Amino acid sequence: MLAYRHAFHAGNHADVLKHLVLDQVLRYMTAKDKPFRYIDTHAGAGGYLLKGAQAQKKAEYREGINRLWSRPDLPPAVADYVHLAQRFNLPQAQPGEPPPQLEKGMTPPLALYPGSPSLARMLMRPGDSMRLFELHPSDARTLAAHFGGRHVQVINEDGFAGLKGQVPPNPRRALVLMDPSYEVVSDYGKVVASMRDAVQRFPEGVYIIWYPHLARIESQQLPKRLISLAPKGWLHVRLTVAQTDSQGFGLAGSGLVVINPPYTLHETLQGVMPWLVDVLAQYEGASYLIEEQPA
Ligand SMILES: C[S@@+](CC[C@H](N)C(=O)[O-])C[C@H]1O[C@@H](n2cnc3c(N)ncnc32)[C@H](O)[C@@H]1O
Repeated sequence: MLAYRHAFHAGNHADVLKHLVLDQVLRYMTAKDKPFRYIDTHAGAGGYLLKGAQAQKKAEYREGINRLWSRPDLPPAVADYVHLAQRFNLPQAQPGEPPPQLEKGMTPPLALYPGSPSLARMLMRPGDSMRLFELHPSDARTLAAHFGGRHVQVINEDGFAGLKGQVPPNPRRALVLMDPSYEVVSDYGKVVASMRDAVQRFPEGVYIIWYPHLARIESQQLPKRLISLAPKGWLHVRLTVAQTDSQGFGLAGSGLVVINPPYTLHETLQGVMPWLVDVLAQYEGASYLIEEQPA
């Protein structure tokens, strides 16, 4: 029984970090002519209505994307991501019309937040392809209704187990996003097992794994366990914006491990993270960490 619904959290500080990094890696992948596959093992619903009851419950986006939305001082990499999210808020093109573009200086009201499959779709080229796993039946239905076409498959199955059948893809070029809900503690072990298998099958793949920054031991140990799987290069970035409560509960922040990161990512994040800490901080001790082993 899946209780987690991403709509409750859409656009929060963790989505900001994850989608900023995803955007940078996608842009790197699309800078080369060769087509690639985007594999999202935990795709969510693809897009979220921020005025909807679920997103409004705690309105987490107010301390996330909302803090960036209208700022005139976005660093270039942050602007890339925010402008994509803004494009997602433009009226959709009719069939046969070109996709909407953001005009200079235009900031649409923040009403919708794009999930990872939508961000990927906005950057991918006609020859690229997508595999989207989503286990929750209603989110999988929403995805299937919005993501169709010859190069896209929405798969209403377990993404941990399903990744095995997807790697290596043909041609051998892919970006895998693994973004579980960690609703059950066994997810931590599944992330490691699934990644170990995928990296052995397809060592040259690019993998982004998201994790919540919590007081629990499994969350603290996960980055090291993932880094130990990387055959060549890796990057680890973490953003801490809040304090856990007196009993150690609550989301302090989040992190990402990128296996085989673009060589440009470390420098880009070094330029961006201090700014992001300032803008997203919910307490004075907000901080970031970046570590890497280049290939
Ligand atoms: C954090 S959300 C994904 C958010 C999405 N990647 C994004 O960035 O917009 C995690 C999703 O995984 C789904 N899920 C949970 N367990 C799963 C599993 N074993 N396989 C595939 N999807 C799963 C949940 O229903 C939820 O929609």
